[in-house]
Parts: sequence; C-alpha cells; structure tokens
Amino acid sequence: MAVALLVAAGSGERLGAGRPKAFVVLAGRPMVEWSLDALRAAGIADVVVAAPPGESVSGATVVPGGATRSESVRAALAAAPPGDVVVHDAARPLVTPDLFAAALAALEGADCAIAAAPVTDTVKEAGEDRLVTATLDRSRLWAIQTPQAFRRSALERALAVGDEMLGQATDDAWLVERTGGTVRVVESTPANFKVTTPHDLRIAEYLLADRLPRPPAA
Ligand code: CTP
Ligand code: MG
Repeated sequence: MAVALLVAAGSGERLGAGRPKAFVVLAGRPMVEWSLDALRAAGIADVVVAAPPGESVSGATVVPGGATRSESVRAALAAAPPGDVVVHDAARPLVTPDLFAAALAALEGADCAIAAAPVTDTVKEAGEDRLVTATLDRSRLWAIQTPQAFRRSALERALAVGDEMLGQATDDAWLVERTGGTVRVVESTPANFKVTTPHDLRIAEYLLADRLPRPPAA
C-alpha cells in the first residue's frame, strides 16, 4: 500500500488570508481536510502532513514543514512508513479519490506519474521586450498538478540534493527528471485547480459547498 505526503506548510502569501493557506476554513472546514477525505476514500491510510508549527491535523502524522515546498516533502518523507509514495498539495482541495488511484496505477513501468491537464490556451514565449519569440505546439503541452506518485527509491534519490536545488523545484517530478528518472503524465482536468488567490478560494468554496453532507430533511 502506498503512503501519502500531504504538503500543507506554506504561508499562503498570495491568498493573504492572515493564516497559513491550508488551514483557512473552506466550505466549513480547514482546507487540508478535503484532501485528507479524498485520500481516505482512495484507501490510503498512512498520511504524513507537513504543517506549519502549531497547526494540528487529526488522523494523520504531522511534521513541521521546511522553508520551501520540496523541503516540506523531504521532511514528510523522512517520517513516512515504507512503500511507494503519493505527494499532494493541500492547496488542491478539489482532488478526487480516483486521481490518487490513477497516479499510483501509472507507476507501473515508470519512476513517477503525475496528474496533468491538457493545456487549452495557446501558449507563446516572449522576451523581456514582450515580443513573441515562439508559439508552442499545444497538443504536446500539459499543465502539471498534484497528486504526483513516486517509486520510493526514485523520490529518495531525487530529494538527496542540496537545499538550493530543492528551492528551484516547483514540483518534485522535475527533481526525478533531472536525476534521469522516467516521468509519465496521467490525464486530469482543470477542476483539480490549486487555490492560490482569493478568486480561487471563492470558486473552491462554491464547488465544495455541494460536497458537504446535507442536514436530514425535516
Ligand atoms: N508548501 C509547503 N511548504 C512550503 C511551501 C509550500 O508545504 N515551505 C505547500 C503549501 O502548503 C501548498 C503547496 O505546497 O499546499 C503548494 O504551494 P503554494 O500553492 O505555493 O502554497 P503557499 O506557499 O502556501 O502559497 P504562497 O506561495 O502564495 O505563499
Ligand atoms: Mg508557495
């Protein structure tokens, strides 16, 4: 059985809610709990949460996070029982249980498997003068999300680098790529978006209100 690392130790600067983003109340509960529910529904019982000092999470092992996202992943991995690993951002509360299962299943024959949505916008490259230098072939582009699943040994190898390299990583799959590991994309949808700004929080609130248990009809 795989173990999950749920990274929730960021400060949430861009959200600006005055407290760590993963612990902001979203549709009636701390944001991190939505991902915990999805993990449990996927049958993943061993969860290590990297959290800011002083925050607690029931039903999971909690470790203090690091200065950067990947340092938080490394801290959580150090506290995780043996097994392949699935890493998830607490900032993606709309994740569904089947996406965890799909990412883990796609590890067959790869070192890493990552949730990703096909890019729907046209993507161009521009210089500092804002002049366009290239239009990329959209049919080959993927917007990368979490969950990201890893063979345990591949993730350990990927994270065995200095903090400066860890700080450059916007996802852990990149660290696997640079150590020569194979990374496969698993198709997801934009519905699994990352809550980054107040606008994102409003949309998440609207969508998750539907998932709250309804009071029994009178
Ligand atoms: N994260 C973490 N430890 C850090 C930084 C980020 O565990 N040192 C986690 C966040 O809690 C979040 C995920 O990594 O679940 C993705 O990061 P991001 O969306 O950037 O969240 P924050 O860093 O909290 O937000 P911001 O960058 O706006 O401050
Ligand atoms: Mg951040």
